[in-house]
Amino acid sequence: MSQQIQTMFSNIAPTYDQANHALSFNKDIQWRKDSVKQMLKDGFKPQRVLDLCAGTGDFALAVKEQIPSAQVVMADFAKPMLQLAKEKAGSSNGFEYLQADALKLPFHDMAFDAVVCGFGVRNLDSLEAGLKEIARMLKPGGKAVILEFFKPTGFLTKLAYGFYISTILPMRGGAISKDKSAYNYLQQSAKQFTSVKEFGQLMERCGFKDISVINQTMGIAVSVIGVKK
Ligand SMILES: C[S@@+](CC[C@H](N)C(=O)[O-])C[C@H]1O[C@@H](n2cnc3c(N)ncnc32)[C@H](O)[C@@H]1O
Repeated sequence: MSQQIQTMFSNIAPTYDQANHALSFNKDIQWRKDSVKQMLKDGFKPQRVLDLCAGTGDFALAVKEQIPSAQVVMADFAKPMLQLAKEKAGSSNGFEYLQADALKLPFHDMAFDAVVCGFGVRNLDSLEAGLKEIARMLKPGGKAVILEFFKPTGFLTKLAYGFYISTILPMRGGAISKDKSAYNYLQQSAKQFTSVKEFGQLMERCGFKDISVINQTMGIAVSVIGVKK
């Protein structure tokens, strides 16, 4: 399965940013920036940060914008995504790039102060293994910031989310990327993903505490922040 997903993301890499911004009406940029802002609350200032499933690096860039002194590692298993990330970061210092599977990362325990992951975890073969791996790499007191599309629970969110996921995502994504099957997969993976409540409970079982949940744009996307126990 992960081989298919790797190939799919590699194929859509050239149009990924354009589709992302069009699909979210440019809100995705704000969602990542706000996620970082929320992470920095209470004077938290991480210096070594992992952007997991980094794609073209927008989360890493948002981290660097708000913490210029941070060292940010971008990890993704799709090489074309990382190549675009490198181009976007240009000659800026403080970035490292690693092609690797999120479930088999070469970092030692407690290597990072923070891990951010945007729209990545729902693609993992095992969500639990992914969260445990994130916890393993974090120092105690470090933070994990997960930005995702979760299964909605409230009535209005269900309506907004259902329309977005079932109509806008596959139609606009398919048209821009010319890869309908990729955006059908993204639609299905979002529809089948866990609710934010279940996700928070799983985070607690995987080594996190003080879980906070921040709804982005009527809860279409959600930032979940957990502190490593
Ligand atoms: C929807 S994109 C999100 C990219 C970026 N984080 C963002 O905020 O736009 C998901 C990314 O996760 C990567 N990915 C999915 N499963 C992965 C895995 N098991 N290991 C490493 N990267 C993975 C894909 O290659 C893709 O670049």
